Amino acid sequence: MRVLVVGGGAREDALSWRIAASPSCEAVFAAPGNAGTATRGENWSVAATDGKELAKKCVDERVDLAVLGPETAIAAGVGDRLRKAGIAVFGPNRSAGRLESSKIFAKRFMQRHDIRSARASVVHSLDGALRALDRHGDAVAIKADGLASGKGVVVARDRASAQATLGAWYGSGHVPGGGNDVLIEELLEGRELSFFALSDGSQLVPLAAACDYKRAGDGDTGPNTGGMGAYSPPRGFPENFEQVVREQILEPVRRGLAEEEEPYIGVLYCGLMWTREGPSVIEFNARFGDPEAQVLLPRIEGDFARLLHATATGRLDPRAIVLSGDACVGVVLATGDYPASATPLRGVAAPRVKDGCWIFWGNSTRRDGWIDAAGGRVLTLCAMGNDVERARARAYDGVHALAAELGACDLTYRTDIAAR
Ligand code: AMP
Ligand code: GLY
Repeated sequence: MRVLVVGGGAREDALSWRIAASPSCEAVFAAPGNAGTATRGENWSVAATDGKELAKKCVDERVDLAVLGPETAIAAGVGDRLRKAGIAVFGPNRSAGRLESSKIFAKRFMQRHDIRSARASVVHSLDGALRALDRHGDAVAIKADGLASGKGVVVARDRASAQATLGAWYGSGHVPGGGNDVLIEELLEGRELSFFALSDGSQLVPLAAACDYKRAGDGDTGPNTGGMGAYSPPRGFPENFEQVVREQILEPVRRGLAEEEEPYIGVLYCGLMWTREGPSVIEFNARFGDPEAQVLLPRIEGDFARLLHATATGRLDPRAIVLSGDACVGVVLATGDYPASATPLRGVAAPRVKDGCWIFWGNSTRRDGWIDAAGGRVLTLCAMGNDVERARARAYDGVHALAAELGACDLTYRTDIAAR
C-alpha cells in the first residue's frame, strides 16, 4: 500500500519509520515531511493544512492511506477533503476533531455523557471570568477554547496569577487561538497519563499508554513545552489501569459519539489525571502525542500500516493490536532558547547514533547529507530495553554521545526522563 504521512515533526518521522517497516507498505510519502522522512520516501512540499493540494497529489500518486499527524491538519478539514477524494484517512473529520480543537465542545461532550473531568465554567469576558473565580476558587486552569499551539492553557495557583492571565488575555483582546471563549476549570490533583485508543467509527480500542514530561526543566520546573520526553509503558499507576480507563472513559466516549452520530476515525489521545477517585479527563487530542508517538510506535508489533488502514476503513480487529513487553524511553533535544523562542540550526552534519538507539527529527530539511532544523524541539532520541530502567540507561548513553557530537549546536535536554 502507498501511504502519506501528513506533517513534519518528530511524531511524523516516527509514523513514517513505523509505516515504512510494515510488510504491507510499498511506498511512504510525507507532506511536508522532514530530514528523517526524506530518508524513506519522497517529501512533498505541500503544507500539512492544504487539503486541496494534498487531495490532488494523493489521487495523482495513487495513495491508499493518509495518516494525519498534527491537529492543525485535522482542524483545517484535511480529513474531510481527502475522504471526499476517495482516500482512506487515519484521522477524524473536522467535526469529530472538535474534541481537541474546541475545549468547550469537549467539556460539554463530557458533561452530556458523564465522563469524569474537572468542574468548569465557560466565560466570554473578563467580568464573567472573575465571577467564575468566585465560584471555583482561586486555583484554576484557564483554557482558551481554540488551538493555540501549547500557549492556550495556564495553571494559576492563586487569584493574583489567575487575574493576571485573564487581564492579559481580555485586556489585549487576544485570547490565544482567537475569539473570546475561555474555560475556567478547577485543578485536579494526581499523576498525568497519556492514554491512546484507536477508533474505527464504531469501536474504541485501547492501544497503549505513555508518560510525557511537559515542563522544560528537571524536576518539572520551568515553562510548559510541547513535551521534553516520554516513556512507555507507564509506571506508578494501578495494575488494572487499562481496564479502568476502558470502562470509565473509553466506553462512555464511544457511546456518546455513537448517540451523537459523530463518527470518529483515528487515534483518540486521552490526557488523564489519575486522581484519588480514578482517571479524570484533562483534555482530548485527536492525534498521536509528540513525543509520546516516538515511544509508543516502537512497541507496536505486527503490520502497523495495515492496522492504521483497517482503522481508517472501519475494520479494526482488536486482536491485531499487539504490544511488545519491552519499554521505550525518548529524550527530546531542544535548542537552548526553547520554549521562549527557537533558533534555527543550519548545515548540521547527519550525526552518528549509538547502536541500539535511533533518532526522530523535528521540523527540518535535508540537502546533500546536511540538515537545516527549525529549532525548538530538534530531535527525539529513543531506545528500548527489557524494562524502563534499561531503556533509560541506553537512551541516556545515546543522548550523551549525540550531545557531544552536536556540541556546537547548543542543545539542551532533561536528565530525568523516566527516572523514578
Ligand atoms: P492541556 O493543554 O489541556 O493538556 O493542559 C496543559 C497542562 O496543564 C496539562 O498537561 C496539565 O499539566 C495542566 N492542566 C490542565 N488542566 C488541568 C486541571 N484541570 N488540573 C490540573 N492540571 C491541569
Ligand atoms: N505531548 C503532548 C501533546 O502531544 O499534546
